[in-house]
Amino acid sequence: MNSKALAGRVSIVTGGASGIGEAVARRFAREGARVLVADVDAKRGARLAEEIAAVEFLEADVSSLTACQVLVEAALERFGRLDVLVNNAFWSRARRVYKLEPEDWRRTLEVTLDAVFYGMRAALPVLVEREAGCIVNTASISGLGADDGMSAYNAAKAGVVNLTRTAALEVAHRGVRVNCVCPGLIETPAVTRAFLGDADRREKIAAQIPMQRLGRPEEIANAVLWLASDEAAFVTGSALVADGGSSIGSGVPKLFF
Ligand SMILES: NC(=O)c1ccc[n+]([C@@H]2O[C@H](COP(=O)([O-])OP(=O)(O)OC[C@H]3O[C@@H](n4cnc5c(N)ncnc54)[C@H](O)[C@@H]3O)[C@@H](O)[C@H]2O)c1
Repeated sequence: MNSKALAGRVSIVTGGASGIGEAVARRFAREGARVLVADVDAKRGARLAEEIAAVEFLEADVSSLTACQVLVEAALERFGRLDVLVNNAFWSRARRVYKLEPEDWRRTLEVTLDAVFYGMRAALPVLVEREAGCIVNTASISGLGADDGMSAYNAAKAGVVNLTRTAALEVAHRGVRVNCVCPGLIETPAVTRAFLGDADRREKIAAQIPMQRLGRPEEIANAVLWLASDEAAFVTGSALVADGGSSIGSGVPKLFF
């Protein structure tokens, strides 16, 4: 791949102050893009913008259409154009269906699915008008199958995968690509907080992954970069899995020991 795959491009990364979004923002900046990071975490966002000249920060809760419209306007005002939108922010309450509070279901859907629609609703008119550019949504392998205890997240991410396909179909003839990445378990602040309490737990979790390890945020940023780059010019509507093999299995229990 060209050493500056995004030279001259302008991007927005939601949830870009931490984890996968932060890795995407850093990678995009290294590849020559200017990046507008949007996040509710003003402290981390401001710190990232201070550290990297090509990154600017806007404090925003992307779970409203107005906020996403302001974000797109800000990118156009500050940088004069928009080429790539990465819808990556999420929030989730992990509970089984029969224990999940309705307000936690709603908030998970608002931040994890509605915000992807709002981001695309705000950005696509700009991209379609110019007949160029692309969107990369952060979905998950949790959008391709079920996980015990993550009902709202599974539903939201499945929505992200199919919304990606629908949007891709609708704008393909206008020169705009829409794809999503489906990461497996990646060691980010969110995952560490929720699941990786101690070394024993971490080891037990890693042992269930065919590659025997968790993924790194930078490995997902690589996938997002490829989808956003001209190297993927004929790729649209895809759900690119990067999961160390977690989702390969058919579900049939292990039979040979
Ligand atoms: N880490 C994993 O194992 C994993 C696996 C599959 C998919 N993903 C997806 O990757 C994306 C990033 O997750 P992560 O693990 O890096 O999490 P993270 O918590 O490290 O980062 C998420 C960021 O989103 C921000 N955010 C939360 N609510 C927001 C809102 N309303 N508006 C704007 N920003 C908001 C947070 O402040 C945070 O900076 C998510 O879409 C997540 O579902 C993660």
